[in-house]
Amino acid sequence: MAFPTTRARRLRRGETLRRMVRETRLSRDDLVLPLFVVEGRGVREGVRSMPGVDRFSVDRLADEAKHVRDLGIPAVILFGIPAHKDARGSGADDPNGIVQRAVAAVKSAAPELCVVTDVCLCEYTDHGHCGIVEGDEIRNDPSVERIAAAALSHARAGADIVAPSDMMDGRVAAIRRMLDSSGFDEIPILSYAAKYASAYYGPFREAAESAPAFGDRRSYQMDPPNRREALREMRLDLEEGADLLLVKPALPYLDVLADARREFDVPLAAYHVSGEYAMLMAAAERGWIDGPRATLEALVAIKRAGADLILTYAAKDVAARLGA
Ligand code: PBG
Ligand code: ZN
Repeated sequence: MAFPTTRARRLRRGETLRRMVRETRLSRDDLVLPLFVVEGRGVREGVRSMPGVDRFSVDRLADEAKHVRDLGIPAVILFGIPAHKDARGSGADDPNGIVQRAVAAVKSAAPELCVVTDVCLCEYTDHGHCGIVEGDEIRNDPSVERIAAAALSHARAGADIVAPSDMMDGRVAAIRRMLDSSGFDEIPILSYAAKYASAYYGPFREAAESAPAFGDRRSYQMDPPNRREALREMRLDLEEGADLLLVKPALPYLDVLADARREFDVPLAAYHVSGEYAMLMAAAERGWIDGPRATLEALVAIKRAGADLILTYAAKDVAARLGA
């Protein structure tokens, strides 16, 4: 039945009706807040290209963790920025390293907050790559060993979920094996399975001091034009034992997210990355866009495409505005 019998606008008359027929609802339960942790004491410093995002020293983390919990956000993902970096990323699996101490601090301040740790080497290596470098090559298998060791040290520190973001082949299987053989068979792996070599990570690399000193990440992160390959990456990670899958960045890759939703039953996460956040904030600052509205619209779009969880730097603002 077509117009005039059918009128799509009938169900858009007034907020009550719109509320009743709304297909997607963003909730505080969907949010994961990234937190950057630095060495030192009493540090809470802004990140220039990410207004509203701070880097905390471990001693300032407890208050932030409680604040995040009180906002109703269920989870944080921690990124450690060590004082010392070397070729093998020794800090990544140091039992007394920056992220390990941060995990302990958050868990003791707010035990009900789910602590996810980003597992990678790039914040800990002096060359800034996500793996072990030989000549101008990023070597896969030696990197996987180091990454599995890092994941185990995070679990030992009390992490609830480990999230490898390096994109080396076989790292999910190696982490699963390592965790299972050390008594951590209940710790889930959130795999950054479809992570693209993206220009949108710029502000993060400033915050995490993790820009590669030479070359780029294209030999391990995915090529942006590839869509089918993302499904293959995700399938492989599931076979290796991933419990949750992540697509990153988010908005420019909603097609990938929608494909994944159709294809897999596991929970899906999307990372609304630093560059996506920075663009919104920059335009809002200039008065060129309504920042809060545009942010909500972006996150709803990510959820509509199929994400169960959204990692976003806007989590605190959004949670405060969404309420219970
Ligand atoms: C480290 C890592 C990166 C991000 C998350 N984990 C940067 C990179 O791969 O260069 C990016 C997050 C963001 O841009 O917000 N492997
Ligand atoms: Zn990395």
